[in-house]
Amino acid sequence: MTLSPSIAVIGAGYVGLIQAVGLSKQDHNVVCIDVSEERVAQLQKGVPPIYEDGLEDLLSEVIAAGRISFSLDIKEAETCSTFFVAVGTPTDEKTGNANLSYLYSAIEDIAKVAAKDAIVVVKSTVPIGTCERLQIRLDELVPEKKLAVVSNPEFLREGRAIRDFFHPERVVLGGNNADALAKVREIYGVFETANVPFVVSDWFSSETIKYAANAFLAMKVTFINEIANLTQTVGGDIETVSQGIGLDSRIGEQFLRVGPGYGGSCFPKDTLALATMARRHGVQQQILEAVIAVNDNRRYMILRRVEDILGQDLRGCKVAVLGIAFKANTDDIRDSSAISIIHTLLDEGVIVRAYDPMAKYENNDHKYAQSASVEDAMKDADLTLIVTEWDEFKTFDYNKQLSSVQQAKILDLRLSLKARQDELSDWDLNFIGINSENS
Ligand code: NAD
Ligand code: UGA
Repeated sequence: MTLSPSIAVIGAGYVGLIQAVGLSKQDHNVVCIDVSEERVAQLQKGVPPIYEDGLEDLLSEVIAAGRISFSLDIKEAETCSTFFVAVGTPTDEKTGNANLSYLYSAIEDIAKVAAKDAIVVVKSTVPIGTCERLQIRLDELVPEKKLAVVSNPEFLREGRAIRDFFHPERVVLGGNNADALAKVREIYGVFETANVPFVVSDWFSSETIKYAANAFLAMKVTFINEIANLTQTVGGDIETVSQGIGLDSRIGEQFLRVGPGYGGSCFPKDTLALATMARRHGVQQQILEAVIAVNDNRRYMILRRVEDILGQDLRGCKVAVLGIAFKANTDDIRDSSAISIIHTLLDEGVIVRAYDPMAKYENNDHKYAQSASVEDAMKDADLTLIVTEWDEFKTFDYNKQLSSVQQAKILDLRLSLKARQDELSDWDLNFIGINSENS
């Protein structure tokens, strides 16, 4: 039997589901509400609708303990004193702003069932000023309930979301109601005991921290990708350069791995939303706009490298693309750089066969084949392109494929095979950010 919930999580996606399961594991009684019938039906059977390491076991554990339930019906949350909102805030394709329609819809639902003095905690990534507007909206809808809005941005990374939930580097809270802030802090008591730093401020600072953090990380990735263009052309090894600069503790070694350009459901949408919002306020973010432009262009840089290897006319060339997800250990393909690279190659007349251990992608406009294995993708290939840093691609026995490819050529966009160069000496092995002539 499930215990009466005191916490509701609205949205059972990457953030909401991890939040719901994580809080249940910390002994809170949680109900998780979603509008997707399919998602809720799966979750009620204990099946995670997303791939995330460790999630399936944790989900079974908290369901068995009776500390979590899943529902389509917001009424199931009427006993809750705290509502964490984790619905999507995707890009509005027309404007570049964050689309807040799911958020406002969730807020209207909460207003209907919440008891007096309940707290609405915004975990979704929202433009600066949104929490203030949500507070105004709730005060209009149900003034007698005195609901309080608290900003609590999420910093988890897909692929290691559970680890990030249980071991956050900081907890950020924003609001103007001291009681509400104290109550949310109490919910996160485990982190306080573990000496995790709490940054408690106003709504605006809290919302800005989230966007600025993602923008800064996107800038770091883009910076190293641009330096990689230089080492690749002039000479040098980008991995050594990353290491050499990252050892300076003022810079730090993380997010200096060269790659196909940042992707995913967050960096592209959040950098665009921040830049768009800033322009609207007349405070253009020039660095951020350059980051977005450089990252958008990366696929053409990669196309040029493919042309260097296969020749200018790519029509009819066969390329095996290894990796479709935006990074390893996730099935998420939202704004994946692999997909924009696949489209760029298809536009040049390349025949693409792509493989990913987890991600699936279909597109009627851009026809390509999704393979069931690395072997299948590489069959008859003129070039194998490693786009996602899955372990399977790091350890795969490429030598076994020598007889089935047209040309023994690999372009590695993640430096996954760098340590295996001697073993793979029968291959023409090319690395992004490394000049093959003087390496
Ligand atoms: P998601 O698309 O995986 O999940 C959102 C869920 O909300 C979906 O299951 C959807 O059906 C549900 N939903 C939509 N409207 C609803 C409503 N009115 N009531 C109930 N459920 C509703 O999204 P996500 O990746 O979890 O992201 C959620 C938010 O968190 C976004 O703002 C995102 O920017 C932010 N964020 C995401 C990550 C990440 O790694 N994915 C990390 C930090 C922050
Ligand atoms: C990112 C942030 O890291 C999280 O802190 C944040 O909560 C989340 O966005 C969000 O706001 O939703 P995530 O999108 O899961 O998390 O992925 P990252 O690990 O940050 O990678 C983003 C992109 O940058 C990927 O395409 C990845 O391949 C690329 N990347 C990252 C590199 O190319 N090099 C690096 O060194 C690091």
